[in-house]
Amino acid sequence: MPPSEPRRLLVTSALPYANGAIHLGHLVEYLQTDIWARYHRLVGNTCFYVCADDTHGTPIMLRAQKEGIAPEALIARMSEEHQRDFEAFGIAFDHYGSTHSAENRKHTEVIYAALRARGAIVEKEIEQAYCPKEEMFLPDRLIKGDCPRCKTADQYGDSCESCGATYAPTDLGNAHCASCGTPPVRKGSRHLFVRLQHFQEWLRAWVRSGTVPDEVANKLDEWLKDDLRDWDISRDEPYFGFRIPGEEKLYFYVWLDAPVGYLASTEQLLAKRNDLGFAFEDVWQKQGFEIHHFLGKDIVYFHTLFWPAMLHAAGLRTPNKVHVHGFLTVDGAKMSKSRGTFVSARTYLEHLDPVYLRYYYACKLTARVDDLDLNLEDFVDRVNADLVGKLVNLASRAGGSLLERLDRRIGAVPPSGRALLTEIRAAQREIEEAYEQGDYARVTRTTMALADRANKLFNEEAPWKSVAADPEAARGSVSTALNAARLLAAFLAPIVPTLVADLDAFLGEPTRWSALGQDLSPRVLGPFRHLLARLEGEKVRAMIDASKPADATPPPLPATPSALQKDPLSPECSIEDFGKIDLRVARIAAAEHVEGAGKLLKLTLDLGGGTTKNVFAGIKSSYAPEQLVGRLTVCVANLAPRKMRFGTSEAMVLAASNDAGLYILSPDTGAEPGLRVK
Ligand code: MSP
Ligand code: ZN
Repeated sequence: MPPSEPRRLLVTSALPYANGAIHLGHLVEYLQTDIWARYHRLVGNTCFYVCADDTHGTPIMLRAQKEGIAPEALIARMSEEHQRDFEAFGIAFDHYGSTHSAENRKHTEVIYAALRARGAIVEKEIEQAYCPKEEMFLPDRLIKGDCPRCKTADQYGDSCESCGATYAPTDLGNAHCASCGTPPVRKGSRHLFVRLQHFQEWLRAWVRSGTVPDEVANKLDEWLKDDLRDWDISRDEPYFGFRIPGEEKLYFYVWLDAPVGYLASTEQLLAKRNDLGFAFEDVWQKQGFEIHHFLGKDIVYFHTLFWPAMLHAAGLRTPNKVHVHGFLTVDGAKMSKSRGTFVSARTYLEHLDPVYLRYYYACKLTARVDDLDLNLEDFVDRVNADLVGKLVNLASRAGGSLLERLDRRIGAVPPSGRALLTEIRAAQREIEEAYEQGDYARVTRTTMALADRANKLFNEEAPWKSVAADPEAARGSVSTALNAARLLAAFLAPIVPTLVADLDAFLGEPTRWSALGQDLSPRVLGPFRHLLARLEGEKVRAMIDASKPADATPPPLPATPSALQKDPLSPECSIEDFGKIDLRVARIAAAEHVEGAGKLLKLTLDLGGGTTKNVFAGIKSSYAPEQLVGRLTVCVANLAPRKMRFGTSEAMVLAASNDAGLYILSPDTGAEPGLRVK
């Protein structure tokens, strides 16, 4: 039964930050959303899935600085990487934009102006940490010091990487500017705030309008029962973002313009596809579209308090539904770099077919906000037992060599198969409901229970036994099995689209949701190509090993001769830029291990003329101290000193590296300590 009126939907996932690679945690969300969007397209609704990179903020600015490139170059590269990863996982956006775009600036400014016009913007003087030497305010990430809880040195101003404590930068011991080491002072500056209390009553009703899951609404009620606090939407320079109109030195806080990316992406989609026949206002002002946001539980309040208030203030419509998912754990624990469970999308793709993960996540996703676990053993078992064992095998047992003996011709479904197909078709409504609710676990469970029935019937009829004596009976069984496989595959089409497309190609019939009521007409099928191999545990282990940090991995890979091709050259550097770097020949006078530091050696460099410098160099994986003492090398002598956990590093030794290890540079014979390198 086709759905009555086609619906029109705009679907979004949260915008991934442009300062990191996509990992298996992110993919929970993008796959969850993609499956939902594919389902709606499959049943004949108009559904657009838009997303973008979230490009602004301090971490992105700092990372670009660290790489010595412009933030624009960094976000361009990350956008390409993100989109390449998403595409490989079959995540089919209708548009993927960027928050660093003209459209986003425009919509951000419009919303800000609307907030102002409603008197919802207030100005306040706040005190913040400030580095007097560099003359800049220091966000949490730019202040370092000793953790107030476990006393580990060199921790960021907001949280400790060693013990996980969270705190204010003022709680740090020995607080200092992360880039120059100067202790910060307190300094006041004027900031802009959104007075959320203006929207409090309206938000109370909105949160209870069925838009957010009840368990989330309960949590929000706790916030909403007290007066909402003013939200600081401005940041001091330097900042990578949009300057606030009418302000000399203030930028919009990244979380102000990030959700506006949903609007900007919609506008960009419509500009690119002028065949669609509707306008921005149809989506974001009138009620003809449904708007669905998908996001993780960590960013709920941005999307259910700040964002609706912004939309409401600007006279735009608010989302119909906010779908919230939990966090990914791997083997029951938080993803961990050292355990190798922090797996990037890229690393996954180097080892495994995306179809496995799409299926497994679907098995785990429900409408609830619970965390979901990628249990690696269960991953292998479930994929092999269900997807391969029940669905793929049914198709291959019926459509492979057995069909060869029947001239590859399938016929009408015999009476013996009718009850099975009727039973499968009767589940179509339930499958629709489960998709709509985001209960993909139920989709896979129901489908696999039906696949069990289909396999059972096939085994009972055992057409491979009867094919010689009664080929028409065997043809009947095969026809039933392939019709069943087609229906079951259709149920899973949003989850494993490539697999289903391959089966469709074999059967010569594209999946059409409204056509599942009819059997496949009798036909001759082409040769059978195997649809999907079993998932090998060995490959999963290799993926985990490859995700472990370098100093935990077994023997390095052979060096790649084409290192330059793999690692594009940095942006151009002028002779003036280069002139700022004081490269000197140095003699390694002493080298020693550093207690507790996995990668570091402490070097004493002799720079001639009685000058020595201490350096902590991350070269322990390739050199023993005794190999180094006495040899000449090249160092950056005027590098700003860096306070590290074990002491201050006053210079940097130059080394090349590849997967196989590190190679310290040396001058030719005859050089002596202190010579300038130019
Ligand atoms: N840039 C913000 C979102 C702005 S939306 C206007 C952000 N980015 S993120 O890259 O950190 O996360 C993107 C989405 O991925 C979020 O919805 C987040 O909840 C989700 N996940 C990130 N790590 C995750 C797990 N480990 N597990 C499940 N989802 C996770 O937040
Ligand atoms: Zn400083």
